[in-house]
Amino acid sequence: MSKWVRAHTNIALIKYWGKEDEEFIIPKNNSLSLTLDAFYTDTRVTFDSSLKEDQLILDGEEQDASALKKVSTILDIVRNKAELTDYALVESINYVPTAAGLASSASGLAALAGAANEASELNLSAQELSRLARRGSGSASRSIYGGFVEWEKGINDETSFAHPIDNANWDIGMLFIIVKQAKKEVSSRDGMQRTVTTSPFYAGWLSTLDQDLTDMKLSIAEQNIDKVGAIAERNALKMHATTLGAQPPFTYWTADSMIAMDAVRKLRKENYSVYFTMDAGPNVKVICKQSEMDKIKKALLAYFDEEQIISAKPGPGIQVLENR
Ligand code: ADP
Ligand code: DP6
Ligand code: CO
Repeated sequence: MSKWVRAHTNIALIKYWGKEDEEFIIPKNNSLSLTLDAFYTDTRVTFDSSLKEDQLILDGEEQDASALKKVSTILDIVRNKAELTDYALVESINYVPTAAGLASSASGLAALAGAANEASELNLSAQELSRLARRGSGSASRSIYGGFVEWEKGINDETSFAHPIDNANWDIGMLFIIVKQAKKEVSSRDGMQRTVTTSPFYAGWLSTLDQDLTDMKLSIAEQNIDKVGAIAERNALKMHATTLGAQPPFTYWTADSMIAMDAVRKLRKENYSVYFTMDAGPNVKVICKQSEMDKIKKALLAYFDEEQIISAKPGPGIQVLENR
C-alpha cells in the first residue's frame, strides 16, 4: 500500500497571473507566497494493472475529465521516469473548498506530486517535486515548502521551480473571509489565459512586478508586517485590475468581497496592521499579526458570521503521513 501525502495551500502575496508556456506551465513572472496551516489536501496514489485509465476520487466523488487531465499530466511524467505502465487510482480529500479561490489546486496538485513520488518510489528531491507539481497547477510548485516561498519563473522545465525564502516564524498570520464556497465560474487557468491574450492592462501589471518582488523580499527580511501587507495589497489590486480589461471582461469580486475589503481598510484606520489580498475567487484573505488576530476577528464579526472567518498561521511543507 502506498502512503498518503499531505500538502497545505498557499496564498500568493506577489501573484502568479499568466503563463509564458501553457504546456509546461512556465509563468510570466516570479511569484511569492505564504503556506498556511488551516487548509490542506491528503492524497494517495495506487498504481493498479486492472485499471483502464487513471481515476480521481476527490472527497468520495469521481471527478470529470478536466480535473483528471491535470492529474494524468503528473502521473504520465512519473510513469515515464519510473518506467511504469499501470494506470493509477488517486484518492484525495480536500480540507479546503474546491475551486473557490482558496488555492485547492495548490494543495491538491502538490499532494498528488508527493503521493505519486511515494507510489513510484522515485525518491524525488524537493526541487524535483516542485517542478512536478508545477506541471499540474502553477501555484502547486510553491506548496512543496512551508513559510514564505518564491517561485522562480525560470526559462524552461528544468529552471522553473519554487524555493523557501523565510520560515515565517514571526508575528504574521492570515484570516480568511469566506464570502462564497461555491465553485467559481472562471477557473484560474482560463481567467489568466484570457487576461494575457486580451487585456491591454496586462503589460502594465507585468511592468511593476520586479519592484513589488524586490520590495516584498526586503520587507520579509525586516519582518515588517506593514510593508509586507501594503505591497501584497497593491499587488493584488493590480492583478484584479487586469481582468476588467479582458475580452470578454470579468471580475472575481462580488459585493461581499467589497464589504470585506472596506472592513479591512476601516480596521487599518483604527491602527491595526491589516491588509487584504484576493485570488481567482470572491473570498478575501486578511494579512495581519498573529498577536492581533483574535481582536481583528472580533471586529470583523460586525460584517460577517463567525463561521465565515477562519484563522490561519504559517504552515509546513509537504509531509508523508506514516500512520494514516
Ligand atoms: P482554486 O482556487 O481552488 O485553486 P483552480 O481553478 O485553480 O481553483 O483549481 C481548481 C481545480 O484544481 C479543480 O477543478 C481540480 O481540477 C483541481 N483540484 C483541486 N483539488 C484537487 C485535488 N485534491 N486533487 C486533484 N485535483 C484537484
Ligand atoms: C490568482 O495555480 O490555480 O491564485 O497554473 O492554471 O493551475 P494554473 O493556475 P493556478 O493560479 C493561481 C492564480 C492566483 C495567484 C497565485 O496563486 O499566485
Ligand atoms: Co488554483
